[in-house]
Amino acid sequence: MLATYLIVTVATVVIVRWLKKYLAYRALFNNLPGETDFSYLTGTMHKIPGTNEDGLAYERENARKYKYFHRVWAGPLLPALLLYHPDTIKAVIKSQAPKPRGKLLATAYDMGVRWLGEGLIIANGDRWARSRRLLTPAFHFDILKSYLDIYNKCADILINKISTSSSGGKSMEMYSLINMHALDIILRCAFSYNSDCQTLESGNEYVKVISELQRLWSKRALQPHLFVELIYSVSTDGKRFYKLCDIAHQVSEDVIEKRRGELERDPSLASQKKVKDFLDLLLSARDDDGQGLSPVELRNEVDTFMFAGHDTTASAMTWTLYALAGHPECQERVYEEINQLLGDRQDLEWGDLANLEYTTMCLKEAIRLHGPVPLIERLTSEDLSINGTIIPAGTRVAFYLYVLHNNPHIWDEPHEFRPDRFHPDKQRHMDPFQYIPFSAGARNCIGQNFAMNEMKTTIVKVIRKFQLSLDPQNQARRNNVVTMKPENGVYLYATPRS
Ligand code: HEM
Repeated sequence: MLATYLIVTVATVVIVRWLKKYLAYRALFNNLPGETDFSYLTGTMHKIPGTNEDGLAYERENARKYKYFHRVWAGPLLPALLLYHPDTIKAVIKSQAPKPRGKLLATAYDMGVRWLGEGLIIANGDRWARSRRLLTPAFHFDILKSYLDIYNKCADILINKISTSSSGGKSMEMYSLINMHALDIILRCAFSYNSDCQTLESGNEYVKVISELQRLWSKRALQPHLFVELIYSVSTDGKRFYKLCDIAHQVSEDVIEKRRGELERDPSLASQKKVKDFLDLLLSARDDDGQGLSPVELRNEVDTFMFAGHDTTASAMTWTLYALAGHPECQERVYEEINQLLGDRQDLEWGDLANLEYTTMCLKEAIRLHGPVPLIERLTSEDLSINGTIIPAGTRVAFYLYVLHNNPHIWDEPHEFRPDRFHPDKQRHMDPFQYIPFSAGARNCIGQNFAMNEMKTTIVKVIRKFQLSLDPQNQARRNNVVTMKPENGVYLYATPRS
């Protein structure tokens, strides 16, 4: 009897304390601007129309309404802030807040762990610092220079594919070709792996797996009851996600084993290169005690780079070609610039990349408008004042980069494609946190220069060969699934230039 009384008393005290804390916490966050229609099942997630154009329009409308940031409830217990103004983002980025990780409730990054492990994108703290230190030399200027030849060659294969797909004057789906092209490039550059994936069907399988993984990942992020790993692991989507992870891992293990075998047979291969490529660096990395990376650590980094190294650029290149197809006057200015610069040459040379002023402006503007990486997250590590409100340490915040770049309080007519915004004279006067598609600070994109070089080369080669125009029967619609993908492809007419 006494025992029961004691248990009930202790339980009541614990529950009352927790409830008091929770109500204070809720009052604090509910004081902030944001959706008031709260559900004890979904928080405010049910208000988000989805990952499609409607969802993007909803978030743009929020930016118009709230200007700096707003609060969401990702389920009944979990508040998060969406930031989309340079003033609010700068406060958190500068504080070097880590990426949020959850013990019971998975964060967006936790949801990727099964696939990418504790690779560079997901890891925090010492583990991240060690990997970043180890991998930074793989993006050295000298090694980036040596990749230009690969970009040119892969773009020639892409051009052949576009020619075939558009023969007979029909419109063709651009994203799938560009995606394979970007995968071909990262496999050759980072892993010395010539897969011929642009011409072989087998490459497509991997790309399909990656697309589905991201679709499931984004779907889960909108369903709070699936934040608990145990529940997700027995759900239909969860089982499928786990299975796809196994397939993706098999591909990266094959890539690793192939290169390891080559290096074992002929160790001089690694030293033939002026600077080691990404995989060679990983294979030869040793800690102070002579320990190399474990097989899982190795695979995590390979998975991370294989994904981040192609999916992002594929999105950015596709949307840039789409924007140029819809703006013939901009496309012709790009074409003129290329002709003037290249003359009779077919391939780009290193010096050309810095001289493509207008092409670069178009690329930056398409990236602003279509946001290849729409959203990233952080966990505040100290109390922060955001617009006069103290946000406690331990709050999840998202930098909604797509919304920042389309915020009508920052950009004049944000929905318009206007490359002139990025004229160097104008960009110089922008707030440093106004345009950050590659993020900023210590955890910015390690592949930024690699990406810009690859994208410029591809855009130049394609526009030099083809005049692109839109297919009015197949309007492209965006889908915000980890990266910004087309919902049903991007159909363009590609007419060979005489
Ligand atoms: C248009 C192309 C690209 C865009 C827009 C982009 C954007 C970004 C962004 C926003 C982040 C921060 C992610 C976060 O905070 O969670 C990031 C990180 C990263 N990116 Fe990129 N990226 C691009 C291309 C690439 C390429 C080509 C590679 C590899 C070759 C790459 C590798 C990475 C890696 C490994 C990280 C994690 C860096 C770290 O935390 O230390 N990215 N990228």
